[in-house]
This record gives sequence, C-alpha cells and structure tokens, in this order.
Amino acid sequence: MAESMQGLHRSHRCTEVSNKNIGESVTVMGWVQKRRNLGSLIFIDLRDRSGILQLVFDENDGDVFEKAKELRNEYVIAVEGTVRKRDGAVNDSMATGDIEITASSLRILSESQTPPIHIDDDTNTREELRLKYRYLDLRKPKLQRNIKMRSDITTFIRKFMSQEGFIEIETPTLCKSTPEGARDYLVPSRVHPGEFYALPQSPQLYKQLLMCSGFDRYIQIARCYRDEDLRADRQPEFTQVDMELSFVDIDDVIDVNERLIHAMYKEILNVDIPIPFPRMTWQEAMDRFGSDKPDTRFGMELVDVTDVVKGCGFGVFTGAIENGGTVRGLNVKGQGSMPRKKIDKLVDSAKGNGAKGLAYLCINEDGTYKSSFAKFMTEEELDNLVKAMAGEPGDLLLFAADKNKIVWNVLGTLRLELAETLELIDKSKWNFLWVVEFPQFEWSDEQGRYLAMHHPFTMPMEEDIQYLDTDLGKVRAKAYDIVLNGTEIGGGSVRIHQADIQEKMFEALGFTKEAAHKQFGFLLDAFEYGVPPHAGLAYGLDRLVMHMTGEDNIREVIAFPKVKDASCLMTLAPSPVDPKQLEELSIDIIEKEEEK
Ligand code: AMO
Ligand code: AMP
Repeated sequence: MAESMQGLHRSHRCTEVSNKNIGESVTVMGWVQKRRNLGSLIFIDLRDRSGILQLVFDENDGDVFEKAKELRNEYVIAVEGTVRKRDGAVNDSMATGDIEITASSLRILSESQTPPIHIDDDTNTREELRLKYRYLDLRKPKLQRNIKMRSDITTFIRKFMSQEGFIEIETPTLCKSTPEGARDYLVPSRVHPGEFYALPQSPQLYKQLLMCSGFDRYIQIARCYRDEDLRADRQPEFTQVDMELSFVDIDDVIDVNERLIHAMYKEILNVDIPIPFPRMTWQEAMDRFGSDKPDTRFGMELVDVTDVVKGCGFGVFTGAIENGGTVRGLNVKGQGSMPRKKIDKLVDSAKGNGAKGLAYLCINEDGTYKSSFAKFMTEEELDNLVKAMAGEPGDLLLFAADKNKIVWNVLGTLRLELAETLELIDKSKWNFLWVVEFPQFEWSDEQGRYLAMHHPFTMPMEEDIQYLDTDLGKVRAKAYDIVLNGTEIGGGSVRIHQADIQEKMFEALGFTKEAAHKQFGFLLDAFEYGVPPHAGLAYGLDRLVMHMTGEDNIREVIAFPKVKDASCLMTLAPSPVDPKQLEELSIDIIEKEEEK
C-alpha cells in the first residue's frame, strides 16, 4: 500500500548530493529508473527532475532489503541513507557517478504498472504513443531539460524587459473576430445566441490601444490561436513574446531586441551572439535565397540568368520570360555526376512546389555537358549560361523558369533540401538576421485583390507613401522579421498612427469606410484621441525555444502539444459535447453531405 510523507522531508534532489556529502545522512525522493538485484545487494537508480542517483540496499539490513525487493520501474519512493564513495566502478556519465546512498529506510509512496513507454531519451517510441502518454513522456530527461529551459528563457525575458522599462499587461482571450489573417477559433456566446468571440491570433490591436493609453512599453507572454495547417514549426495554439513601444522607429525596436537576444544567449547557453545582426531587404533575400527567411549558414545562392537566356532557343526559358517571369539557377557544386534517378527526384520535388519542370545541366569532368535542354541551345548559349552560373567541371546546374514567386519558392526549397542531404549546413552556427523592407501588399489571385502582407496597421516606408494612390505593388512596409538559421522567429512593424494614411490603407485593401469601422472602429476611434507613434514585435516563443534546445520540432518544447489534425492524443480534444450544452448555446450541428 502506498505510504505517506508524514514526518519525512526531502533534503536533496538526486544530483544535489555530491562527494562533498560523503558520510552525511540524506533523504531523497523520486522514481525508480532501473534496478539490479545481485542477490545480496540491490541497486536502484533513483530519478527526479535533476537526474539520477544510485541507491544500495544490503541484505544485512533485513526489513529494508526485503521491501526493496518489491520495487519495480517507476515506483515512487523515499529513501533515507548515508552518502558514501562508490565501491565499484565510478560512472563518469552521471553527475553523481562517484557516490551512492546506502539505504537505511525505504518508503514506497506510490506503485506503478509497467509503463507503456520506456522512460529513456534513447528509445525510439512512436510519437502517437508518446503523446497519448505525454505525462510519462515528459519524465524523460530531454523533455525535462527542454521545459526547464523554456521556463529559464521566459524568466530571463521578463527580467530583462522589466529592466528596460517594459510593463507586463494581460490582454483578453475572448475577443472580437477580425477575419484578416489566419482563420479564427470561435467561441459561442450563451448570453448572445448566434454571436461568437474569437480567440486572439495575437494581441495586436490591444497592444496598440495600450500605447494610446500611455503605457509606453508593453510586454506579454501571450497565448495565441490560429486555425491553420500545422507544420513542424506551427501549432494551433502557441505562445508569443509580444511587445510594443511608443515614440520609437525601427532602429529602436531592433536595438532593444538585439540586446535582449545577445544577453539571453549569454545567460542561457553561454554563447556570444555578435550584434548588431545583419539586415537584408526582402528583395535581396528573395533574389539570393528564394526565401524571406533565408538560411545563411551555407552558400548555394540563386543566380538570375534571365538576361543570359533571353534570346536562346529553349522555349521553356523564353516562354517564361515572355510571360513576365524569370529564369534562375542553382549551382550544386561537385554534384555533376549525380545519378539520373536522384535528379528525377529533385524534379519531382520541384513539381511538388509548383514548378512545371526543372531543367538541369551536368558539367562532366572533361568539360562536356549532359543536359535536359542542351539540344535546344547552341554551344555558345550553353557556355554563356555555364559561365553566368560560375559552373566548373563536376558541377550540377539546376534551372527553374516561371513567375518569380514560383521560381523563388522552387529553388529556395530545393536549396534547403539539397543542403540537408549533402550536409552543407554548419549546425553549430547561430545566424540571426533582420529581413526588412517587406512589400506592403501581396496580390491574391484567389481573392482578386491586394492583401496586407503583415497587417493593415503596418506603416509604409515614407518614400513609398506616394504609391498608395498609384502602384500598390511598389509600396514597401516598415516591417521587419527576425530570422534565425532559416526560421522566422519573430516579426513586427512600425504602425500607422495617422488617420489619413490608415484610411488610404483600408481603401487599398478594398475596405469601405463602413466595413473598416465595423471591424476596427474601436481602434480608429481611439486614434482620434492622441496616439503616439508606436512600433512592436512578437517572437514565436516555441520556435525560439526549439532552436535554443537544438530541437527541430516545436512539439518537443511544448508540454502538451497537438498533432497535425489539431487534436490532442492524450485528452482526445476536440470531442463531441452534451446536446444540452449545445442547446444552451443555441447551436445546431449540421452534418456535411460526405460525412453522412
Ligand atoms: P506574426 O503573425 O508574424 O506577427 O507572429 C509572430 C511570430 O509568432 C510565431 N508564430 C507561430 N508559432 C507557432 N505556431 C504558429 N501557428 C505560429 N504563427 C506565428 C512566428 C512569428 O514570427 N501581431 C504581430 C506581431 C507584431 O506586428 O508586433 C504578429 O502576430 O515565430
Ligand atoms: P520538355 O521540353 O517539357 O521535355 O522540358 C525540357 C526540360 O525542361 C525538362 O528537363 C523539364 O523538366 C524542364 N522544364 C520544363 N518546364 C520548366 C520550367 N518551367 N522551368 C525549368 N525547367 C523546365
């Protein structure tokens, strides 16, 4: 039967006991990680959140020894005993590898069934099983370390930002739905039948209102909700480190954030990140890396060869150019002898990203070419193309021809895939950079109108305001993303605080005055009463922690994450509810045709 804590006090966590305590009596508590019964001696590896400590039970100790025989993995126990130097081999892989506790008393605080997953970092348990039994999975040292580091990071951020004059303010999570952006999670109102709150996609509007209220510097570690397709770095609910500052321009926001990142990496990882970070315009990022979140840890940059192939005989290239597109290439150094099968895989991957095809040219060691399009070009045209790509014997050249957006995406993605398979990435690097001067608008073929690339409250660059009336495609925004090793870990912008520019912005986005007021009236009204110039930024905390812990999926740094279809395998949320609950909410469920 499980025993109680009565009269017992833990004196140390497992790895707080050290060879300095030799000869002392200690009381430790935790889970049985492993047991070895040698007949006259029983060894137990005791685990708590700090690590592992070896306990020894000796047959000369009668009752205690008998009781120790009952122990199984994951039993929760309390042990009093004396610290001594290890008799046998010292275990260098353990913090407490040179000591052990000889047990003088044992309490079994809780028994355990055989756990469905092995509590060990090294085992390859299926992820579904891990997430179903997440409370067991979380016992693993790696996850304990990740969750602890996450806590250390938020603690550090709070301390640093407080010293910088930021005030932590909570904003509502039952909000008004503002359909611009990702899809909202809706919450039905019982009191107002047929009406809904939305869970916040971010505290954006509230933090701008807080600037109107004069709080000057705001920070919040805020839960955000977005109903969008999940990926390795996306969850339906996630956490932002959200901030807003008054009386500032871009450089002020960037400065405090560079100092924050620098200090945080020093404190948490003892790594010196050089500041200031490089800044790159969006245009340069797209042209060189085919991505607005470039991974600059390796080269293999895109090369624009549009001018070189303009009048050539290859219809795929010239056709794309005539349609307003471009032709760009990648030089995959030293891969000229890549087997045809592997090249075909690259072509398939390019097609998966929207390409109509992927043209290739291998430069043989003897300088001759093997190419999918050589027959359409003259010797001279091919030589010029190879020269433009700085191609050398042994290189593989890949080309995409299409609208810019597609070419960038296709080559940008291939570049990353190739770097991964060819192991071109130096994983010890921390390449931070700012991407700036984003386009203000993005054309949506689907909606037949311009959408805000960041959000409708982002300030255009001063010199581009003139184009708000004439050429929206030309307007660049005072927006910035902070990128780390190819991940967007945060983003923000200077906001519009002038009513006339805001009005123009809504107009450009196709909002009538009435529509804008219906949706954002409270903000527009607030701006009538004295609003300071302001700007802000939000980090994806999960992504930041993912990088700092060396993980490649944000699920590894979230205690209870959801899976791809946004469900929780442990609680089985979402789930049907009692019809009575629905009735109270005046909600009727309509079955869709295909589900019937
Ligand atoms: P944005 O939409 O760029 O900006 O979000 C800021 C950062 O949040 C992270 N992020 C996510 N992380 C995990 N799962 C998701 N589904 C997810 N979506 C976003 C990213 C991103 O950089 N209000 C503005 C910020 C501002 O302008 O101040 C905003 O929300 O790391
Ligand atoms: P085809 O004439 O269609 O056989 O194409 C010749 C070569 O051009 C093949 O290697 C195709 O994969 C490639 N290709 C086709 N469309 C494109 C495109 N839009 N961009 C780059 N290469 C392409």
